[in-house]
Amino acid sequence: MKNVAVIGSGTMGNGIAHVFAQHGLSVSLIDISEEALKKALATIEKNLDRQVEKGVISPETKKASIQRISTTTFMKEGVKNAELVVEAATENIDLKLKIFRELDECTAPGTILASNTSSISITKIASVTKSPDLVIGMHFMNPVPVMKLVEVIRGYNTSDSVTEKIMELSRTLGKTPVEVNDYPGFVANRILMPMINEAIYTLYEGVAGVQEIDTLMKLGMAHPMGPLQLADFIGLDVCLSILNVLHDGFGNPKYAPCPLLVNMVTAGHKGVKSGFGFYQYKPGSKDLVVAERFS
Ligand SMILES: NC(=O)c1ccc[n+]([C@@H]2O[C@H](COP(=O)([O-])OP(=O)(O)OC[C@H]3O[C@@H](n4cnc5c(N)ncnc54)[C@H](O)[C@@H]3O)[C@@H](O)[C@H]2O)c1
Repeated sequence: MKNVAVIGSGTMGNGIAHVFAQHGLSVSLIDISEEALKKALATIEKNLDRQVEKGVISPETKKASIQRISTTTFMKEGVKNAELVVEAATENIDLKLKIFRELDECTAPGTILASNTSSISITKIASVTKSPDLVIGMHFMNPVPVMKLVEVIRGYNTSDSVTEKIMELSRTLGKTPVEVNDYPGFVANRILMPMINEAIYTLYEGVAGVQEIDTLMKLGMAHPMGPLQLADFIGLDVCLSILNVLHDGFGNPKYAPCPLLVNMVTAGHKGVKSGFGFYQYKPGSKDLVVAERFS
């Protein structure tokens, strides 16, 4: 595989473009926003610089990687030479279905269509295309250049050969792919989100405070960050939407989102990205301070 396209240049899209380019693939990075594309290129450059400083890559690899990335706001133009398209646009089912309908029309026959969705059914996404055997989930983790895992999700109709190609490509990117089937939350979030939800319930019921809960899980279970801090990092709105997918998909009350989480998202307290969550985030400050409401 030589040419790939990445749709969406936000947190995940710029990381995905970065790893493809770093490993020798030409990348067309597509977004509806010029501003987002500019920001993505600046982020990729900064992250490549960090890799050079750490001795992970040479300055020449950095230069070549940047040169392999082109950007466009025209999807048709951006995907026309792609052998693989990885969609990493905003997590919204209607948007994803619209993008895949268009990709079905404007990509060359045989192009593999992957989605980086955290929770939307790959089978559902594939159902709006004429070749559901070519549609697959390629779930990278944040931050993409650092995290080793790719959860490879087989939709109901994904072919063996497409799955094998994506597993192989993930290894070429220096990642460890894990193949799973397409059921709500796949595997990573099906296990992670109930843990985060339970941590929020523990806080909601007054069993313990924010710092106590996170310290217990960090020191007791050797997690690198506590579940409440992790929820802030992922985005509380994202956590809520994944829990809703689990709850709706399985119809099991054990996945019902904690009312505190629902309230926080409704109030605009979405974690790091909004400046407030279980902790408060001041620009430039590296201290982890519990949000006033919970301190
Ligand atoms: N953030 C995470 O930790 C994480 C982890 C794994 C998977 N994901 C998944 O990755 C995907 C992207 O998430 P993100 O956090 O990078 O979101 P983000 O909000 O940072 O970026 C989304 C980008 O998509 C662009 N976009 C919206 N509509 C578009 C369209 N029609 N065509 C092209 N670009 C469009 C937006 O302008 C934005 O730049 C989602 O499906 C999300 O569930 C996110």
